[in-house]
Amino acid sequence: MKIGILISGRGSNMAAIIEAVLSGQIPKSDVAVVISDKTSAEGLQKAMMRGIETLVIAKKGRTREEHDAEIIVELKNRDVELICLAGYMRLLSPEFIRTFPKRILNIHPSLLPCFKGLDAQKQAIEYGVKVSGCTVHFVDESLDNGAIIAQKVVEVKDGDTPETLSERILEYEHTLYVESVKRVVEGNYEIIGRNVIYK
Ligand code: GRF
Repeated sequence: MKIGILISGRGSNMAAIIEAVLSGQIPKSDVAVVISDKTSAEGLQKAMMRGIETLVIAKKGRTREEHDAEIIVELKNRDVELICLAGYMRLLSPEFIRTFPKRILNIHPSLLPCFKGLDAQKQAIEYGVKVSGCTVHFVDESLDNGAIIAQKVVEVKDGDTPETLSERILEYEHTLYVESVKRVVEGNYEIIGRNVIYK
């Protein structure tokens, strides 16, 4: 299966997915392209070092729809069937989501539906929860809302700062994202309503 990854920054989840594809842990797949909306994204270098094609498609004052349309063309030109958002800091347009129904994945650093949006780890600390974690989900038209593929619980420790909690959650994100992509590629599931049921 041809995978496209969208990033805006560091790209550590992207690197984990690429490594898993290259090692065969995610079977019968290729990462066809990594697309960033930022020229400065550190992840671009990480993708290039691993021999993956990269593109920068900046928004450049265009509407979200125009920007997304350009990304869709590049993904389609490469026959991409599965899209992984990995620290991609933009909301996708409804048109983008309709073009790849149930084929776009995202990772979020909280146990959804808690702490949607930006700074999820800071939100968790401020709320005072004792556990948080990470979630991989299908992307729908609402922010951090689609059907949940997998979650991992991570302890929030006394004295945690957003930085220490982010770092602890990130270690689990990489494994969770790789396992989730593997499950979607293998296809042994069905989606009933909001529920992803594994066979
Ligand atoms: C991760 O914490 C992810 O959950 C969130 O953005 C961060 C991206 O980190 N969506 P990286 O770019 O994958 O290192």
